[in-house]
Amino acid sequence: MKFKKKILCIGAGYVGGPSMAMIAYKCPDYKITVVDINQERIDAWNSSQLPVYEPGLDKIIKMCRGKNLFFSKDIKNQIKENDIIFVSVNTPTKTYGAGADMAADLQYVEKTARQILKYSQSSKIVIEKSTLPVKTALAMEKILSSAKGKIKFEILSNPEFLAEGTAVSDLENPDRVLIGSRETKSGLKARARLIEIYSRWVPLNKIMTSNIWSCELSKLVANAFLAQRVSSINSISALCEKTDADINEVANAVGMDSRIGNKFLNAGIGFGGSCFKKDILNLVYLCNYYNLREVASYWESVVKINQYQQERFIANILHTMFGTLAGKKICILGFAFKANTSDTRESPAIYISQKLLAEHAEINISDPRALNNAEIDLSGVKGKISYIEDPYKAAAGCHALVILTDWDLYRKLDFRKIYISMVKPAFLFDGRNVIDRKKCHSIGFNIYVIGKRALTHF
Ligand code: NAD
Ligand code: UGA
Repeated sequence: MKFKKKILCIGAGYVGGPSMAMIAYKCPDYKITVVDINQERIDAWNSSQLPVYEPGLDKIIKMCRGKNLFFSKDIKNQIKENDIIFVSVNTPTKTYGAGADMAADLQYVEKTARQILKYSQSSKIVIEKSTLPVKTALAMEKILSSAKGKIKFEILSNPEFLAEGTAVSDLENPDRVLIGSRETKSGLKARARLIEIYSRWVPLNKIMTSNIWSCELSKLVANAFLAQRVSSINSISALCEKTDADINEVANAVGMDSRIGNKFLNAGIGFGGSCFKKDILNLVYLCNYYNLREVASYWESVVKINQYQQERFIANILHTMFGTLAGKKICILGFAFKANTSDTRESPAIYISQKLLAEHAEINISDPRALNNAEIDLSGVKGKISYIEDPYKAAAGCHALVILTDWDLYRKLDFRKIYISMVKPAFLFDGRNVIDRKKCHSIGFNIYVIGKRALTHF
């Protein structure tokens, strides 16, 4: 079959895989190829065990894979063959040298640019899909403009806004698609080619264009604003616990104001995931770089409150359980950083588990999707850890239940059955505000929910 367009994506991760699958699904006349240096990942995308769990993704992959969607290890030839290239490689926080623990580590992006330069035999549009510090496109341009001869590269910024767990619906019905380019003749032409792709399923009024620097910065700012809301409501949850106010009632009252809105106001143990913390730290680093100290410290406080929320939660467990966890068994329900994903990157559960183990508690970890990742995250951590998928088996014989992920499954558990199987007095710490606390209290549990008055039998 002759395809109308050929598109390549470098980086087959949580963004590259699903976002390219959506283009393939919506544009059967386009050929989409996704490549990665990680060969195991490519093998997994080509198998029935996809490397990421996303509701609805397996169906789309099955429909398109081998027809117009391909996962390949042959980076060199794919760069040669495609003239529209998305770059969706990882941009973690730097762990070494200047800007360590703050700045984005751009080595993977730069290596990708150099690969593109090395193997290209024709002009190409290179699209930044990774989240990048503002002005990264300039570095990309400088590297790629060293190409000899007639080959030209146009750089676009097209940040991804999908959230894990809802990636398929976010990609299918995005709030907006943002495309930034140089405002030159060739930049605008490249922009139009990308609009052509998205307009196959996204209404034109949702496709926004801007200059390339606004586009790069908007992505960091969108994540910073979302994380800021989580830290704002979490900071108030601490005050609720001191004053007998109820965080849900406060959030509902505040969120009913249409200027504020009711989304992203769920208090809990704080945000996890691979992006919020890294993107805010990146923003903080940029502000400091431009000598905007007050702006930097404003955004840094969002990360500080997030850490504070986890410390508070752990301190409460220790204090409530009579100041010692040594030899006690604690069941952790949920290890993923949020529901409907197997991803555990920066999950608060990692830190909380480590702290409980440091207190010499024994932990049973349960999660419907994330146990493999949990085992990797905690490998090498000292202490007694069991990984048990069935929440009832995981809870049996424990002194406390600690809910760390908002899986729907935990709302529907038979808490009476669990209570009977536990050591008494039985404690329940709900870090995600998912349980019916009055009902669980009436069963016999001592209940501690973030942002609410404790319900105990003491
Ligand atoms: P990821 O780690 O899951 O995937 C990145 C992939 O890029 C890896 O498989 C890695 O092997 C590959 N890679 C790195 N260097 C390469 C190279 N030179 N050639 C080929 N492949 C290479 O990361 P992710 O979660 O998909 O995130 C990618 C980017 O998208 C990040 O900048 C992130 O901030 C951003 N983002 C992520 C999400 C999300 O929900 N995870 C959402 C929006 C934006
Ligand atoms: C987030 C953004 O929502 C996406 O738009 C963005 O594309 C993505 O980051 C990214 O750049 O990686 P994601 O991290 O997948 O998506 O998931 P969110 O739904 O934003 O949740 C992030 C964390 O905040 C989770 O740990 C979640 O439990 C927590 N959260 C979220 C709360 O504690 N309370 C809330 O009200 C909302």
